[in-house]
Amino acid sequence: MKLPIENQLSKILRKPSQEVRDFNDPKLKKLIQDMFDTLKATPNGVGLAAPQVGESLRLFIVLLPKFQGVFINPKIEKISGEVLTQEGCLSVPKIWGEIKRAKEVEISAYNEKGKKFKMKSKDLLAQIFQHEIDHLDGILFIDKAEKIFSEKK
Ligand code: CO
Repeated sequence: MKLPIENQLSKILRKPSQEVRDFNDPKLKKLIQDMFDTLKATPNGVGLAAPQVGESLRLFIVLLPKFQGVFINPKIEKISGEVLTQEGCLSVPKIWGEIKRAKEVEISAYNEKGKKFKMKSKDLLAQIFQHEIDHLDGILFIDKAEKIFSEKK
């Protein structure tokens, strides 16, 4: 699956995504598998939202060395604290930004079987949750960044 960059995909990246309604749709399973394959093949990728691969659906995945997960129709339930951190995005290559994010976030979401769950997170995982949920609302980190860099600092 290709990862189109912002200007090629700007319409999908910029519009709010649709909720997933049919958890039994085989296309959903395939999309999730394709997204993991794509993210695994992408150096430094830790999260990927469906609009980044051209599907305007409220779904993202996380792939960290010790944790991976699928989050469908996610919603931020609670946030607390604030950190100034650095972010990049696979859809906005070669740009990094300094950005304020909540330090701790609790989200609710559905898994690929349609079961609802809640998850607490802090630091990097909380940052990924906020970044990916922004994607589902058509928001990119460059919209919120206080400073933009052309090199990773
Ligand atoms: Co991104």
